[in-house]
Amino acid sequence: MNQKLSGKRIIVGISGGIAAYKSVELVRLLRKSGAEVQVLMTPDAHRFVTPLTLGTLSEREVLTEIFPPNQTGSWTKHVHLGLWADLMIVAPATANTLSKLVTGVCDSMLTAVALSARCPMMVCPAMDHDMYEHASTRDNLSTLRERGVAVMDAPEGLLASGLTGKGRLPEPEDIAERAAGLLADHSPTQAGPRVLVTAGPTRESLDPVRYITNRSSGTMGFEIARAAQRMGCRVTLVAGPTALETPEGVTRVDVETAREMHAAVLAHRDADVIVMAAAVADYEAASVSRDKIKKADGDLVLQLSRTPDILRELGARRTDDQVLVGFALETRDAEKGALKKLHGKNVDWIVLNNPTEEGAGFGPGTNKVTLYGRDGRVEPLPVMSKADVALAILGFVEPGVKRPG
Ligand code: C5P
Repeated sequence: MNQKLSGKRIIVGISGGIAAYKSVELVRLLRKSGAEVQVLMTPDAHRFVTPLTLGTLSEREVLTEIFPPNQTGSWTKHVHLGLWADLMIVAPATANTLSKLVTGVCDSMLTAVALSARCPMMVCPAMDHDMYEHASTRDNLSTLRERGVAVMDAPEGLLASGLTGKGRLPEPEDIAERAAGLLADHSPTQAGPRVLVTAGPTRESLDPVRYITNRSSGTMGFEIARAAQRMGCRVTLVAGPTALETPEGVTRVDVETAREMHAAVLAHRDADVIVMAAAVADYEAASVSRDKIKKADGDLVLQLSRTPDILRELGARRTDDQVLVGFALETRDAEKGALKKLHGKNVDWIVLNNPTEEGAGFGPGTNKVTLYGRDGRVEPLPVMSKADVALAILGFVEPGVKRPG
């Protein structure tokens, strides 16, 4: 058991070599140490070990193809996995896979994720002695080293060919040990960008007993705060009333009303990235009754006035290098509404979600969003967990947010 691996997210990429059987044990060790493990296998790796074994041990579906046969609109998975992971290990890395990693060929999920990963990477070459010593393999390994990839040298010993020499895969315990060291070396210093996130509804009092609010649970904003913190950002989360727990390492400021949120956001607006995921009430009581409003015969007419539009104000006062992200929740003329907000509020991205669409909406679970960028980009995302949507949003809005090394 290695404490340093606990809670870490590790991709284990397995390519097609006889040593793939040792990766089964590696996955088991990482899981035993408390790491979350996502296995990616090249098609040839299936000849040596089964996805069923690895899927069972990792408790996650093993991925191989970028475009699996029965897929429905989720081709961006490689990008999300690249953002999700704290470390990517390729073990065994065959001569073939090494050369693809060097040249950027992406013909499988493994090689595609290797290109989009922003986390540290480690490769454990394993092959026959002559292949290992060949100039092309040596060159590929030194290129990877130059790019900051950690290469574990292949130990000497008896090889599957019957020959003796260098080319064996290191023992799973040694790979896990090296992985723990790498993770410790690369643990986020929290010196990354400052990110301000708002989340949840606001609650506008009518009298001492009653209030107006909306159905926002705060989940989306909390997931964005959690993901940004894990990526090494310094995160402040301004939260309306929710029952959610504060993500680890995030500074939380609790507010109740739109006015309180306005004040808290302005106090923290000196951030590199601001994501306004909160469902801020557009109206508050024109005057809050000091006493409980008494029931009377006939109807009650409430007068409401507009709350300050926090995001619009941020947009008007923004600096050029600040990234501003707003959310739009539309049930009609969705795209038109999103584009109007993008330009009207002077922000860089609007994340549109339509709660009437399947897989989208309030509460825990999934969401389905489309991102509209100031530069004209339109990025529709498939239905995903809110944690994955958070990663994807951060990947688009702040590509520099997670850098290797
Ligand atoms: O205009 P609309 O309310 O649809 O815009 C939604 C976006 O604006 C969200 O990002 C929300 O957090 C933000 N907003 C705000 N202040 C308000 C209303 C909305 O910052 N009063």
